[in-house]
Amino acid sequence: MKIQRELGVPPRPDVPPVYTRRAGWQAVRGDAAWAGRSIGFVPTMGALHAGHEALLARARAENERVVLSIFVNPTQFNDPTDLAKYPRTLEADLALARSYVDAVLAPEPEELYPDAYRYRVTENELSRRWEGAHRPGHFDGVLTVVLKLFNLVRPTRAYFGEKDWQQLLLVRGMVQALLLPIEVVPCATVREADGLAMSSRNRRLAPADRARAPEFARALRESPDAPTAAARLRAAGFEVDYVEDADGVRMGAVRLGDVRLIDNCRLPAAR
Ligand code: PAF
Repeated sequence: MKIQRELGVPPRPDVPPVYTRRAGWQAVRGDAAWAGRSIGFVPTMGALHAGHEALLARARAENERVVLSIFVNPTQFNDPTDLAKYPRTLEADLALARSYVDAVLAPEPEELYPDAYRYRVTENELSRRWEGAHRPGHFDGVLTVVLKLFNLVRPTRAYFGEKDWQQLLLVRGMVQALLLPIEVVPCATVREADGLAMSSRNRRLAPADRARAPEFARALRESPDAPTAAARLRAAGFEVDYVEDADGVRMGAVRLGDVRLIDNCRLPAAR
């Protein structure tokens, strides 16, 4: 609401309809009331926070209709424990989103995977590096579900946070490769006051790990090179999956307890 007030966007009074079945949503999407309108789309896995709210606020400001999807996509989790523990907070999500969105898609897995995931989208280069090297199959799952959601929503613009930098590059690449008439809009990472990038996984951090977590962003930003950042993080008690520099961006993934965090920053020359 705060962000919305700052943008001067009037609050939306109605509770947005939630579609759990493809057919119900597709009937609405095909209706004349949606024809010829610009549609902003914010795909999420729920557990919404201020980072998602910023995406929704931007979508609201730039489009005539806004659609939010909430779907904890099983095919992008290479770790079954991570999938089981992923926070599911639908009621709170709807309360946060209601003033921004015209419709919410919250489909059951069978609705998005009638093929039981026999068909999938694979990118063969970038998706193998960084996150992909540590989470085999992750980006196949991401790209496949994003394409399915794009096909259902047919958005004008789709909003993605820069925290998931590699995901953003891959979604943009897929849109270009598959000739999709969608503008992918990158949105700056929203951070807590202490610098920790907002993430649905943050709420699972133990108090001592939450206190240590802001060092992740600091080490990425302040270290002269990637190996120095990784060493600084290990010394501070992080388990480091990777820290790497590529194309003016430093990306990293670390673990605190059983919570995995990712973040990135622009390198000084690129800032
Ligand atoms: O960034 C996310 O929350 C997910 O990867 C996405 C894009 C919603 C696909 O499941």
